[in-house]
Amino acid sequence: MRAKIIGTGSCLPDKIVTNDSLSAIVDTSDEWIQSRTGIQERHLVSSETETTLSMAVTAGQAALENAGISPTQLDLILVATVSSDFLTPSTACMVQKALGASNAAAFDINAACSGFLFALNTVDAYFQAGIYQTALIIGVETLSKLIDWSDRSTCVLFGDGAGAVVAKSSEEGMIACLQGSDGSGGDILICKSRTNNNPYIHTGTDLDYLYMDGQEVFKFAVKKEPECIHALLQQAGMQPPDVDYYLLHQANYRIISSIARKLKLPLEKFPSNVSHRGNTSAASIPILLDEVNRNGLLAEGNILLLSGFGAGLTWGAALLKW
Ligand code: ACO
Repeated sequence: MRAKIIGTGSCLPDKIVTNDSLSAIVDTSDEWIQSRTGIQERHLVSSETETTLSMAVTAGQAALENAGISPTQLDLILVATVSSDFLTPSTACMVQKALGASNAAAFDINAACSGFLFALNTVDAYFQAGIYQTALIIGVETLSKLIDWSDRSTCVLFGDGAGAVVAKSSEEGMIACLQGSDGSGGDILICKSRTNNNPYIHTGTDLDYLYMDGQEVFKFAVKKEPECIHALLQQAGMQPPDVDYYLLHQANYRIISSIARKLKLPLEKFPSNVSHRGNTSAASIPILLDEVNRNGLLAEGNILLLSGFGAGLTWGAALLKW
């Protein structure tokens, strides 16, 4: 049995921040941001009630409604995030409580922007092993709290939000999946946790913010993601044109179009929302999936390829039948 996605949902904060608004905070411009990334605006949390948890719960509820599944039917909840509100309990356990999903085991996965794919692939493995049958998978980030808002090279790139899917154990759905990591590249996209303030190692209380070597991440993405897609298609005995839609991690439109070029495919096969969402890390693929689903783009039997890359370094992909 494999994972079949039977419902999708998403949640974005109310506040929309344009490139022009950011140019009032840092030395940047709409022209620079759009020409380098394709991003025009992003949603950012703007009140204490908008949190990683609140967005995860709203997206999860929407996915459950879309799937016609009640929370008590869930036996697994996985949340992919690097920006939990609490170190413990996990966001997944807090989602379980908020939804009343009393029969579900729940835990978080940290694989940065690849996190949703790692979670989907984990659910598929559980289903193949016959351990669980009905799962809620959420990708959620409030990256705005990890950003140095005086660093123009990163603060213009990211947005907040959550996306979710309900997956059911089924004869058809996931066709093939893969994931990989290269910890030796971890330094090019990094965010330290709090410094240790115990009385034996007093190093201060400064919190570090996200650091990214943009050009190295760019080079990694445009090399690794096509390799990953080719490897997955080979596993399934398929060719790039056999896929109806490629739903890629929404980091940068230049990366997406470079991958389309390398696969020799038209951009119509690559739905994108990065212009209005920015990079929402683990949330980007499930938010995009929810948007294309609710806009009626997907037909039963469509072949979808989901693929992403992120800090770690990590990469992952999933090929599935809708
Ligand atoms: N506005 C104006 N100028 C800027 C800005 C900005 N927001 N940011 C940087 N610059 C300047 C730099 O200071 C530099 O100026 P200098 O030449 O005087 O030193 C100049 O622009 C060029 O900077 P580069 O870093 O070389 O710009 P580049 O063309 O490489 O684009 C970018 C930067 C957009 C970050 C690109 O490298 C990129 O997209 N990388 C991939 C990023 C990514 O995908 N990250 C997420 C991956 S994983 C995850 O999702 C968490």
